[in-house]
Amino acid sequence: YVSFLSYKYEDYRETADWLLSHTEQRPKVAIICGSGLGGLADLLDNKTVFPYKDIPCFPNSTVQGHASQLVFGELQGKQCVCMQGRFHFYEGYNIATVTYPVRVFFLLGVETLIVTNAAGGLNPNFKVGDIMLIKDHINMPGFAGQNPLCGHNDERFGVRFPCMSDAYDKDLSILAKETAEEQGCSSFIQQGVYCMLAGPNFETIAECRALQKLGADAVGMSTVPEVVVARHCGLRVFGLSLITNKVVTDYDSQEKANHEEVLETTGMRTQDLQRLISNLLAKM
Ligand code: 6GU
Repeated sequence: YVSFLSYKYEDYRETADWLLSHTEQRPKVAIICGSGLGGLADLLDNKTVFPYKDIPCFPNSTVQGHASQLVFGELQGKQCVCMQGRFHFYEGYNIATVTYPVRVFFLLGVETLIVTNAAGGLNPNFKVGDIMLIKDHINMPGFAGQNPLCGHNDERFGVRFPCMSDAYDKDLSILAKETAEEQGCSSFIQQGVYCMLAGPNFETIAECRALQKLGADAVGMSTVPEVVVARHCGLRVFGLSLITNKVVTDYDSQEKANHEEVLETTGMRTQDLQRLISNLLAKM
């Protein structure tokens, strides 16, 4: 008996084989697009689009207004596959479901995972609109027993006790920094630690202060489970957070975190972010 929902190797295999038989593309890079950042997938050339609901064994998206599809295509001549719309834990998906696509990517032959998200800025030096290259993460749901690797370990994906001290690829981060400089974005590029909370509520003031003391620079509600599963199966990971708002750490402040501000900021930086990722891809 195990208390965690788990998929079988054959489930991931069935999804991957179906995709492999429905497209001739063989991407080496997968991109998970964060909230308001799915426009990247629209830029791909020679697109093949699969709505999640049409893919065997693939989790179904319940949220309206999200594209909810896998997009295969080329960016700067490089084949890639984009998740337009991810599965969030706060939507009620099991942690195994949230990370299902990552193992499918692995079975497709993907070697590098790029993750993006919208996040709140905890570091007082960060400004709204900054792009933070993720250097490391704090898996807060993992602290609380919600780790996607809990349960039976299938050695075909990875080892029982994987290393996480090298989760984010240093070379890709350096390359991204260079790319950002070349495209004139260095004034708003940061580097830091991303902390995931389950959500869906934004943080209390005491929680924000605690997270700052823990060494987190940005806080969000996604990404970390996917990265853990990606590292387990040996994918290289590059991640970036768009700082869409500053968290409130002052009891006298009148400011309140809200989703509208998050979307407003993603709108303002989405072009820079898309250019950064596509220029980075060109150099990989
Ligand atoms: Cl302030 N908190 C969390 N948890 N997620 C966010 C955010 C804040 N801003 C954007 N996403």
